[in-house]
Amino acid sequence: MSPIEVARNKIEAASSLMVLSGAGISAESGVPTFRGAEGLWKQYRAEDLATPEAFRRDPTLVWEWYQWRRALIATKKPNAAHEALVTMERSLKDFRLVTQNVDGLHPMAGSEKMVELHGNIWKLRCTACGRITEDRSLDLPALPKCQDCDALLRPHIVWFGEAIDPENLQASMAACRACDVMLVVGTSALVQPAASFAAIAKTSGAMVIEVNPNPALTHCADLLLLGRAAEILPQLLA
Ligand code: OAD
Repeated sequence: MSPIEVARNKIEAASSLMVLSGAGISAESGVPTFRGAEGLWKQYRAEDLATPEAFRRDPTLVWEWYQWRRALIATKKPNAAHEALVTMERSLKDFRLVTQNVDGLHPMAGSEKMVELHGNIWKLRCTACGRITEDRSLDLPALPKCQDCDALLRPHIVWFGEAIDPENLQASMAACRACDVMLVVGTSALVQPAASFAAIAKTSGAMVIEVNPNPALTHCADLLLLGRAAEILPQLLA
């Protein structure tokens, strides 16, 4: 049996499947990843753009970067990998997707049983009252303001040094412990807490399958599927 066939059989027979996705799943949609040769963190410093300190220091610069990324992502569509996960979700009775991506391509493809661990670039949060709104417009003011209290809005994204929303973390950890198969797609597994999810699932008895052309979980994955997500994931459908 080929590794793809083994993975397909395991997924089909899974009583609980958890999928962890990262920037690599959107690579074939044309959304840049963070750490590859062409990755965003090769061109930009995360400390200048994706920390609460950076936003306090220069909110205009941080907003400029997020508005540039919003405009870029607005031109992109879900690919065959996002779509394959929607098919899995609909055919398995216990399914949970945890994504580190903020691009919104999973929900656009139709994923519902999902956690956006790092937030969503189309959502804005008030720095004073905390109200979260969705706004897909590409002509936001340089410093967008809350309609309720007129305070500065920020991207609803978890920046370096910030805590994950406790509900999202709890749901993700519960899925790690409950799943008997975990599929990890397109992440360098360098950012915590998501970087530990595969090990947690494995310790709880799950089989870990990684899809990545440059696998990151060689120490922990039971099965490595070397290749691009949009090519491999459709082959994992029963
Ligand atoms: P990275 O950019 O760190 O890693 C992307 C991974 O995708 C790498 O392991 C690549 O080998 C792999 N990859 C590239 N093309 C692929 C393809 N076509 N199919 C499958 N895999 C492919 O992205 P993440 O691990 O998601 O934080 O990064 C984690 C977090 O760091 C992000 O969520 C982001 C960033 O700072 C926030 O946005 C808050």
